[in-house]
Amino acid sequence: MTTAAPRIAVYPGTFDPVTNGHLDLAERGRRHFDRLVLAILRNEGKQPMFSVDERAALLREAVAPWDNVGVDVFDGLLVNYAQRVGAQVILRGIRAITDLEYEMQMAMMNRKLAPRIETVFLVPSEAYSYVSSRLVREAARLGGSVGELVPAHVVRALAERCGTGGSAILGP
Ligand code: PNS
Repeated sequence: MTTAAPRIAVYPGTFDPVTNGHLDLAERGRRHFDRLVLAILRNEGKQPMFSVDERAALLREAVAPWDNVGVDVFDGLLVNYAQRVGAQVILRGIRAITDLEYEMQMAMMNRKLAPRIETVFLVPSEAYSYVSSRLVREAARLGGSVGELVPAHVVRALAERCGTGGSAILGP
């Protein structure tokens, strides 16, 4: 008797920091795969708010309750990383039509580079359709409340990083 290979998906991103939108997508995605790996790109070119190790720690704490979800860091081409970990699928989210062009371009490029790896798009809850790490960082920097957009431990990390002492950005 042959056993089927485990269905593994990689959900790549910058995750600077992880938001409830990312987690909503991971929660949906993990139901369709044996294993889901949230893979953080080590992008030395960008000036992130959190280092890659900090982002990984924040992500690990957020996904700790899910036994089939892991967190990893990758360099270089995503498809090479996906092949290394045995993933057949790249998972990405489409929040709104404005995401589509960029996501399609990435999916097509990844298909050109590795035709056997499929990109699967999922749609997060409409409650998170406007949430992005960039806007969360901006709001937090300016003292806005982000308590409903990221997990509590990420709110604390943002408050610490932004020097707001956790007052305003903890939210209602
Ligand atoms: O969260 P982001 O910033 O939208 O994620 C972008 C990411 C990390 C998925 C993308 O930049 C990526 O896959 N980079 C790895 C380099 C690569 O494989 N490039 C070629 C395919 S477009």
